[in-house]
Amino acid sequence: MDEWSSFDTISKGKGIWLIDSKGNKIIDAVGSMWCNVWGHSNSQLVKAITKQTKQIQHSSLFNLTNEPVEKLAKNLIKISPGMNKVFYSDNGSSAMEIAIKMALQYWKNIDQTNKTQIATVENGYHGDTFGAMSVGYVPEFFGKFKKQLFSTIQFPVPNKYRIPKGFTFLDYQNDCLEKIERRFSKKDDIAAFIMESGVQMAGGVIIYPKDFQRKISKLCKKYDILFVLDEIATGFGRLGSMAQYQEQKSVPDIVAYGKMLTGGYLTMAATLANKKVFDSFSGEFNDCKHLFHGHTYTGNPIAAAVANENIQMYKKYNLIKKIQKTSKIFSKYYEEILDIDIVGDIRHKGMLMGIELVSNKKKKKPIKTKKSINKIFFEEGKKQGIYLRTLGNIVMLVPPLSIQENELEMLLSRTIKTIQAAKSKII
Ligand SMILES: Cc1ncc(COP(=O)(O)O)c(C=O)c1O
Repeated sequence: MDEWSSFDTISKGKGIWLIDSKGNKIIDAVGSMWCNVWGHSNSQLVKAITKQTKQIQHSSLFNLTNEPVEKLAKNLIKISPGMNKVFYSDNGSSAMEIAIKMALQYWKNIDQTNKTQIATVENGYHGDTFGAMSVGYVPEFFGKFKKQLFSTIQFPVPNKYRIPKGFTFLDYQNDCLEKIERRFSKKDDIAAFIMESGVQMAGGVIIYPKDFQRKISKLCKKYDILFVLDEIATGFGRLGSMAQYQEQKSVPDIVAYGKMLTGGYLTMAATLANKKVFDSFSGEFNDCKHLFHGHTYTGNPIAAAVANENIQMYKKYNLIKKIQKTSKIFSKYYEEILDIDIVGDIRHKGMLMGIELVSNKKKKKPIKTKKSINKIFFEEGKKQGIYLRTLGNIVMLVPPLSIQENELEMLLSRTIKTIQAAKSKII
């Protein structure tokens, strides 16, 4: 922490650019923490916020409702096959806390009290609150709180860059799936299996192999376990599809969205449930089957209004198709990036790229430095006019989803220059 004696002040944004109080412009290569869709200061989104702000700024979802959230629920159900009802919150971690509570309470509601365990995958990330940390667990982030986290059953995820000795990649995948099935079949105590959809983001941009998520989804159905997917960072187009679970041919019971839901302008998240889960929560008042959960800003109408406008714009501008096309630009740069001697691997899907830095390409040893790699890359990135943030030894490229092809080319060539410049500071 001490390496940060001061912070640049961002006072404006325009498109992919962040502009500081001194007038310096940098490309927002992390999409303001992976949530920006249309760039900064988009006039349609700003107009939607302004219009709603003049009507009602906040009104509670306790005993009441409001028009923007009702409309948003319909919009979310439309883009989420199999989902039936929406529960609002104001950040991704809360959306996952709600998903956990829904999943655990579902079994109580239907009087099946044996199902109390949560299964997850190693290195998952679902937020920084205690429940979300428990079902996630990236050791570097959460190690200090390990004793206070509730226990989960964790399974490995096949990582193509680090295949164990003696295994083919296919063996490795099958081994991971067999471990899951072995445990599922041993004891009927698992309430839910929780994982990120498509890619583990904060855990190092680990892209699941084809069919991995689909097969887990099938195992959950076979063993009567709720399948809970976190689409907070990976849905809404980040990986090139609106609902990533659809591309993965998986069938969740509960799904969470956040980040890009409002285009990255206001704080809102949503936890969606299928009819089976929702129905278990209905009953007479004294049955006490309802979900006791709510936040002050649950269902904020301004956030919902901008989310509605955002979803409308996805359709109007055919954003998903555009992402799929623009995303191909990344592959033009694979070779040049991999040629840098501290780059071990690149992992890319949709509008996401993780560049893994290693100190030894052959041994695939993650780069470790005395100084913060993040700070080194931030400073070098700034010199090239980009705002970069690394996660451990991974350089993350998570730009605004609507970035133009020429802008992405600019970002990639500046990233290459940054890695080359940072190299001498690291080794
Ligand atoms: C997959 C995933 N889930 C949940 C969260 C938590 O969201 P928030 O930071 O809005 O609490 C994040 C945040 O990065 C995330 O990447």
